[in-house]
Amino acid sequence: MSEPFDLSGKTILVTGASSGLGRQICITASRMGANIIATGRNKDKLAETAGMSIKEKVEMIICDLNDSENMLDMVKKLPGLNGVVYSAGIVKFMPLKFANKKIINDVFQINCIAPIILISELLKKRLIFNNSSIVFINSIMSKIAVLGNGIYSASKSALSGFAKVLALELSSQKIRVNSISPGMVRTPMADQTAKILSEDAIKEDEKKYPLGYGEPEDISNTVIFLLSDASKWMTGSDVIIDGGYLIQ
Ligand SMILES: NC(=O)c1ccc[n+]([C@@H]2O[C@H](COP(=O)([O-])OP(=O)(O)OC[C@H]3O[C@@H](n4cnc5c(N)ncnc54)[C@H](OP(=O)(O)O)[C@@H]3O)[C@@H](O)[C@H]2O)c1
Repeated sequence: MSEPFDLSGKTILVTGASSGLGRQICITASRMGANIIATGRNKDKLAETAGMSIKEKVEMIICDLNDSENMLDMVKKLPGLNGVVYSAGIVKFMPLKFANKKIINDVFQINCIAPIILISELLKKRLIFNNSSIVFINSIMSKIAVLGNGIYSASKSALSGFAKVLALELSSQKIRVNSISPGMVRTPMADQTAKILSEDAIKEDEKKYPLGYGEPEDISNTVIFLLSDASKWMTGSDVIIDGGYLIQ
């Protein structure tokens, strides 16, 4: 009997693979049998990811996704794909009165514009096979209002709209498009947010999560499900994984 969560024989492109959730997705997906193309800007950190994964299953491509030429060069190097996980992203936590055009552009560029351009290029080059799966790492911030998160929330909400239309557009090819919206997960990005707040404020924030803050594995295991044939009737969905944050 075939194992529905098995990723053997699938080739998966993972962005944001040098850190946090993307790194854990590479580790878990390689253990589930996938061949991974791991991309990020930081060569050393990408190599660490490869070392933590089933190494022979990981190919690394250094790429700044905000640089169009760099992205096109990466796309030229890619084989046909059975899956894409877009985990690259940044957060800028600040009251709007401190924002400026550069900050807004930077956040939208990597969180929203780059994934749209990347998928568009992959489709133009016919690099996404029929029956593939695309997974965007979104955020519960696309659904709720948290002070200081306006620009980030807006970028993730835009990505959410895009993902739904893409799901419709690619359904005839049985290419599925889903997203995951995590709450706070312990990664370098979360550490960055923690630096802005006091230790007490972080402890108070974690109390809002009935199951506490998450670990990267809590997200990567659901990514495996979405990449695998176990979710073959699932598209246009957004899976909230937030330790119960949104219950209250
Ligand atoms: N951690 C959380 O609590 C949380 C919660 C909700 C949603 N998310 C979302 O989950 C995703 C992953 O977050 P994380 O926690 O794993 O963050 P992270 O540890 O800071 O990792 C971010 C990744 O994005 C990559 N990246 C950033 N700018 C890039 C660029 N211009 N070109 C290519 N790669 C770029 C980084 O690669 P390099 O450093 O190598 O450039 C890094 O691998 C993000 O989309 C984030 O919004 C995270």
